[in-house]
Amino acid sequence: MSIYLDSNATTPLRPEVWEAMGRVEFGPDMIRNPSSTHKAGLAAKRAMRAARERLAGALGAAPEEVLFTGGGSEAINLALKGAVWAAEGARTHVISTQVEHHAGVHALEWLETQGVEATLVPVDPTGRVDPEAVRAAFRPNTGLVSVMYVNNEVGTIQPVEEIGAVCREKGVPFHVDAVQAFGKLPVDVNRVQCDLLSCSAHKLGGPKGVGALYVRKGTALAPLVHGGPQEHHLRAGTENVQGIVGFGEAVRLALEEQEQNWAKWVELREELYRLPKELDAVRCNSHPDLTVPNCVNATFMYCDGMTLSTNLSSKGIYVSTGSACTAGDMNPSHVLTAMGLSDRAAHGAIRFSMNWATTREELTQTVDLTKQLVERLRLITMPEDIGKCGDDCPCYVTG
Ligand SMILES: Cc1ncc(COP(=O)(O)O)c(C=O)c1O
Repeated sequence: MSIYLDSNATTPLRPEVWEAMGRVEFGPDMIRNPSSTHKAGLAAKRAMRAARERLAGALGAAPEEVLFTGGGSEAINLALKGAVWAAEGARTHVISTQVEHHAGVHALEWLETQGVEATLVPVDPTGRVDPEAVRAAFRPNTGLVSVMYVNNEVGTIQPVEEIGAVCREKGVPFHVDAVQAFGKLPVDVNRVQCDLLSCSAHKLGGPKGVGALYVRKGTALAPLVHGGPQEHHLRAGTENVQGIVGFGEAVRLALEEQEQNWAKWVELREELYRLPKELDAVRCNSHPDLTVPNCVNATFMYCDGMTLSTNLSSKGIYVSTGSACTAGDMNPSHVLTAMGLSDRAAHGAIRFSMNWATTREELTQTVDLTKQLVERLRLITMPEDIGKCGDDCPCYVTG
């Protein structure tokens, strides 16, 4: 038996995507290097153009505003470093948040070593950023604002439209990390009023190592990778045609199923909500309304999240302790601590994240086994007064 509930880390490749990628390589149309001017090259160019048009259509963008990259992290790095390097004069201040993915966090940390200044706006206990706090962080030399659309650890949806309006008013480019949003909810670059937006294929049933960066026409950007003229001279290198075609197919499927997946996740999530109802001292870290419903992050007090997830894994159930990128790293999640959780509460957190194929039976089995395991693990660690430790207990929010 295996039950995969780690879909915010990555999703399985959809069979339709696999087939579309196979057709590119092994189908009757010989599809080769899109830069070649012969028939096999032109076929590759056409296949890539179709995928680009599909992505652009999904985002409300023009096809020439979509650049393919080697994944979400690369798109984010290109957006942050490229926009800062291309910024006019001494616009070397960047505004971001305390709950960004490591791709954003570490790109900014590196930029700081190069003399860039960063302000990381805090979040409330639900993980939301206040657009007024973003406004207050502006300085005369602010050259970029970067905020994620949906948080990967708790699923919180940020008020990106309001933040976009503030950036427009200030005339400062706005980058949105939409890696966890794209495919799950409608993402429209004009509604958000962003200038740059990153997404990634493997979060929506596409292949790993393929992403895209939306670059609004007229946005100044310097490349990270120099070489050939691919992707409007902004990302040199022969394109990953198979991966790009797979990305296009994954987008088609995700858009087709978006509403039905959302409704399904809202319904199935109820099964996960049995955990705080049927066990003492469990706190849901994901907000019930302001999140994408495929993800529930919960803290099991008096339980170590890593021990719990390892025990679940030994039974074939795969979940995550915070972001997959931080798994194996014993520091508490920077997202949960920014939301005000104590280190202890953050260490007890587990993220369950569903995809289009998750079933109620899988969740029922997961919840039943999690309950048994938590009760067993707590035999050693549970204090006498465990039942008194409710949702607002200070041990969640203090050391
Ligand atoms: C919010 C967010 N941004 C960026 C990334 C990085 O994307 P990729 O794995 O395609 O590099 C992830 C992946 O977990 C993510 O969840």
